[in-house]
Amino acid sequence: MKIKGTGSAHPSLTLTNDMLAEFLDTSDEWIVSRTGIKQRQIMSDENLKDLAISAAKNALEDAGTDARDIDFIICSNVVNEYVTPSLSCLVHKGIDASCPCVDINAACSGFLYALQIAEAYQKAGMAKNILIVCAEEPTRMVDWNDRRTCVLFGDGAGAVVVTEGDDLKAIKVTNTSKTDVLYEQRCLEPTPFISKEEQNIPLQMKGQEVFKSAVSSSIKDITDVATEAGVALEEIDWFILHQANLRIVEGVCKLLRQDLSKFPHNVEFYGNTSSASIPMLLDEMNKRGDLKDGDKLVFSAFGAGFTTGACLIEWSAKK
Ligand SMILES: CC(C)(COP(=O)(O)OP(=O)(O)OC[C@H]1O[C@@H](n2cnc3c(N)ncnc32)[C@H](O)[C@@H]1OP(=O)(O)O)[C@@H](O)C(=O)NCCC(=O)NCCS
Repeated sequence: MKIKGTGSAHPSLTLTNDMLAEFLDTSDEWIVSRTGIKQRQIMSDENLKDLAISAAKNALEDAGTDARDIDFIICSNVVNEYVTPSLSCLVHKGIDASCPCVDINAACSGFLYALQIAEAYQKAGMAKNILIVCAEEPTRMVDWNDRRTCVLFGDGAGAVVVTEGDDLKAIKVTNTSKTDVLYEQRCLEPTPFISKEEQNIPLQMKGQEVFKSAVSSSIKDITDVATEAGVALEEIDWFILHQANLRIVEGVCKLLRQDLSKFPHNVEFYGNTSSASIPMLLDEMNKRGDLKDGDKLVFSAFGAGFTTGACLIEWSAKK
């Protein structure tokens, strides 16, 4: 498999830490020192489906691929306004595609899970060109009175078009059933037959436990894919990590004994955009011309579940 094109889309409203401090007991100093986040783009009047469609069109254009030549669409999404049809169906309509499509929810690790599914479809001969769209609005999952969670997140969409190739050198995904460290619950429609107590519980997080799991899983996953690919960590040009917290990125960098310049980050400007964060950052780097043919890229993500994933890619997008 190889990544042929990238795209992204962001909501228009910029929410700075100072704006948060106007209605929350928090400060720019606290948020920046604990997370690196200075601001985030968040949903106001937009719909997530429109952002997802926009990121998809952007990636198709970058790849030079017509939507009619896409054989399969995978959308990674945790929540959006529609329960059904799936977000991938809405994207399908928005880009005028003609292939099957499906949504997956592997929380913030969704991009890695989608890449692995895409590779499996290609290997099985079921699809050649696959569109992956990661679109997320975690700001609709949090309690905006809870300073421990709402300051961390932003919304956005990132997309890639993948086609056949030999760039993906190793990929792994994992899950350990730590379902209580990061979760949100919501009520379904009542029925005359339901008598159990149900309630909406906005996003709950055991921050320090998530932090430790994120650092240790990232280090293990990155080491595993590098070993499988037969590549030394020193040979890797870019470590593109899920953008949840700058301190997690710095912690992984330090423990892997690598130079921080190999760990690009944009969490300062977007916050944690769940599974959209890696394809959004990849698109930024691709459009800026950071990525050279032959560069070795590692993606590594972690999220609710507790899901994790990593892969190693040798970049050759425009060949
Ligand atoms: C969330 C996180 C930044 C909190 O940092 P921390 O150093 O662990 O802080 P703690 O939770 O121990 O809280 C320390 C204090 O700061 C307070 N605090 C929490 N959020 C605050 C905020 N936004 N502003 C000001 N104070 C805040 C807490 O109430 C606590 O106060 P107390 O000691 O009086 O009770 C950190 O744990 C983290 O980044 N975890 C990983 C989160 C993540 O990546 N989630 C997504 C995974 S996909």
